Amino acid sequence: MTDEVRRLAGAAWAFRARVEREASSRFVRLAAAIPAFDPGSPVVGLLRRAAADEDRHAALCADLAAAYGGPAGATPVDASVAPRTFGARDAVLYEMVAACCIAETESVATLATLLAGAAEPRVRSVVHEIARDEVVHGRMGWAHLAREAAVRDVSFLSAWVPAMLEGSVEPGIFSAGGPGSEPDELLRHGVLPSWRKREIFVGTLEEVVFPGLDKLGVPAAPARAWLTERLAGRVSPGGMR
Ligand SMILES: [Fe+2]
Ligand SMILES: [Fe+2]
Repeated sequence: MTDEVRRLAGAAWAFRARVEREASSRFVRLAAAIPAFDPGSPVVGLLRRAAADEDRHAALCADLAAAYGGPAGATPVDASVAPRTFGARDAVLYEMVAACCIAETESVATLATLLAGAAEPRVRSVVHEIARDEVVHGRMGWAHLAREAAVRDVSFLSAWVPAMLEGSVEPGIFSAGGPGSEPDELLRHGVLPSWRKREIFVGTLEEVVFPGLDKLGVPAAPARAWLTERLAGRVSPGGMR
């Protein structure tokens, strides 16, 4: 393994450890907020269990990061990602869709791709354990959205999905080169090349996320338009026209 591969793998796993810790805090906060408007929701219990899963994932990722000599990882920050103008109930819905329907669903696809490849045994066992839980975490978002859609109009969220995608996508994947532009060796250490991340991101949106939102009363048209623009290269993620 070259120093460069070791450094990139260590940084990637340290970053994941922080993302897992942040997910844990977010799930604890959301579990505490839901009973105020939906006391009978089974999602509350699922969120509490998911928070414990994320703590376990964070430890696994931090151990791997340390094995590659990676940084200890920055302090996690947990703050609502919903627009400030949203009331408490709408903010929870925004975060459940962004964190679970989008981020966890994308995570499942990414981990499945890593498992299908030739990962190192230690990386493979961590990815395998995490992947098993993330499937359940994605479902929490769809379950919460379905409960809300059954009792109120959730179409207001439609215009906000592009902002959620903007917040979940790794900067640069739309401008990255194609196959062969990055070293393949990173895959064995759990790091996908950017072109592969782009392929997974787009495929998961088109096959799972967009149809799911459409079905549950959040028209995906604005999000589809956002994706089309990104793929046409007219706008860089996070950038201005
Ligand atoms: Fe996780
Ligand atoms: Fe998760």
